[in-house]
Amino acid sequence: MLDHETQTFAFTPAELEVVQQHIAKYPDPKSAVMPVLWMAQEKYGWLSDQAIQLVADTLSLSFAHVYGVASFYTMYFKKPMGKYLLEVCTCFTCGECGGKETLNYLKEKINADSDGISPDKLFWVREAECLGACDTAPVLQFNNGHYVHHLTPEKCDTLLENVQNGIMPTYERIPLTPQESKA
Ligand code: FES
Repeated sequence: MLDHETQTFAFTPAELEVVQQHIAKYPDPKSAVMPVLWMAQEKYGWLSDQAIQLVADTLSLSFAHVYGVASFYTMYFKKPMGKYLLEVCTCFTCGECGGKETLNYLKEKINADSDGISPDKLFWVREAECLGACDTAPVLQFNNGHYVHHLTPEKCDTLLENVQNGIMPTYERIPLTPQESKA
């Protein structure tokens, strides 16, 4: 994790091109604030005041405006968290199918602190609302990206071990019909 106190905050020319592409999608450049915040978070790991100021300066917005957006949405991190985020759904279906037990299992497995973060800051486990994949419950979302379906303790163990070895979860296609699953 970068030290935000000593780090210089700037987008590279290539990143600024991407910023321009985001701006071009909207009638008002202000609307690009979310993807540009996302770029800053991806680059710096979390959104310190310095990272938020960079986004504000890049889009000619006030710090207060950008801070307001960053603090409203839970996918923006306002303090350093774990490197890999595992969000376990504990909503209705997943809750009934072992989501809560999975959440607790993962937290115990990584020896999570009260924020759900492992001592080495590699993993961060937290609860999620319905991820829209209730038919494959219980489910988790890895780093705001791919889902891991039909979670079991064994599947959680494999996931943690793989990530520790640099193997990230990839897209998992779920068969839509019983015929398809036999094919
Ligand atoms: S209840 Fe978990 S994905 Fe919908």
